[in-house]
Amino acid sequence: MRLGILTGGGDCPGLNAAIRAVVRRASVTYSDDVVGFHYGWEGLVQDDAVPLDVTTCHGILPRGGTILATSRFNPFKSASDTERIAETLAHRHIDALIAIGGDGSLRIAREVSGLGIPVVGIPKTIDNDVNATDSTIGFDTAVQIAVDAIDRLHTTADSHSRVIVCEVMGREAGWIAVYAGLAGGAAVIIAPEEPFDIDQTCAHLIRRHAKGRSGSVVVIAEGAKPQKGTIDLPTVVLDRYDRERLGGISAVVAREIEARTGFESRVTILGHQQRGGTPTAADRVLATRFGVAAVDAAHDGAFGTMVALHAQEIVRVTFDQALGELKLVPRDLIDRVANIFTD
Ligand code: F6P
Repeated sequence: MRLGILTGGGDCPGLNAAIRAVVRRASVTYSDDVVGFHYGWEGLVQDDAVPLDVTTCHGILPRGGTILATSRFNPFKSASDTERIAETLAHRHIDALIAIGGDGSLRIAREVSGLGIPVVGIPKTIDNDVNATDSTIGFDTAVQIAVDAIDRLHTTADSHSRVIVCEVMGREAGWIAVYAGLAGGAAVIIAPEEPFDIDQTCAHLIRRHAKGRSGSVVVIAEGAKPQKGTIDLPTVVLDRYDRERLGGISAVVAREIEARTGFESRVTILGHQQRGGTPTAADRVLATRFGVAAVDAAHDGAFGTMVALHAQEIVRVTFDQALGELKLVPRDLIDRVANIFTD
C-alpha cells in the first residue's frame, strides 16, 4: 500500500510521535510506502510532499511541533482546490490517506471521504474537544504545562497577597481549565461551557481571603464568556481563517476582580506555550497507539473512520460519531467536582 499522511489545524505535542508510529507500522509491518504532505490539506492542493521512512523519522518521538508543518487551510473553499486533492492522490498513487487533526481538519477529512477518497482520521488537539474519544493527542501535555505554571503562580500570589488570573487555551470546551485547575488547586475555575458570573467569582474570593488565604489563582479558559450585561468585552478580532482570535479575557476578568474586591490582581496568559515542546509520556503512548491503529484500519479498509480511545482500548468510530458536536466538559465535572475543592 502507499499511504499519505498529513497534520492539519493547530499543532500540539505528540504529532511527531503519531507520524513516527504510522511510518514504522506501515513500513515494518506491511512494507508500505509513506508520503507526508506539508501544511495540512494545503499540501494536497499544492502537491507539496516528502517521502517518509524509518530513517527520516529517527529522533522525532520526543520532538514538539510537526515535521510535516501544518495549517488551517480548507480545500473546500474553492472548487478547483477540492479537485486538486484527488488529482494529487492519483498522480502520487496514494491508496489511502491518514489525516491527523482536530475538529476542523477532521471535518475536512469527512468531506474528503465523502468524495470517495479512502481516509482514516487520528484525533489531536490540546483542547480535547473531539467527540467519541476519551482523549486527543496533546491534551495531557497541555494540562501538565498549565499545572506547572499554576504551581509557580501560587507561590508568588501568596507572597504578594494577590489574585493571579491564569488564562489557558480552550475555545469552546474547558478541558484544560478544569483539569489544570483541579490538579493545580485553583481557587476558581472558569470554563467556556456556561457564561460565568463575575459577582459569584468575586464573592468566592472575598470569602476565601476572609478565611485567611493570602493569594488566589483563578484559572480561566480563553473562550470563557461573562453572563450577558455584566462585563464589557473588547471587539472581536478574526484571524486569516475567519476564526475569532482569542486571548485576553483574563485581563478583563482581573481588572473586574481588582475593582470589585480591592485585591491586587495580575494576569498570566499561557497561550502557545501549551502547544509547544516535548510531549508527556502519556501523549507519546497515545499518539503511538493511534498511529498503529490508523495504519491497521487502512489495511482493513475501514475508511471514513477515526481511531479513538474508549476506556483504555483503541477503537474505530465513524467520522459522523466523532464530529456531530464538540465534546464539552460535563456539567457535573464543573459543578460538583471542580468547585468542591476551591474554598
Ligand atoms: O488548536 C486549538 C487551539 O490551541 C485553541 O485552543 C486556540 O484557540 C487556537 O488553537 C489558537 O490558534 P492559533 O494558533 O491559530 O492562534
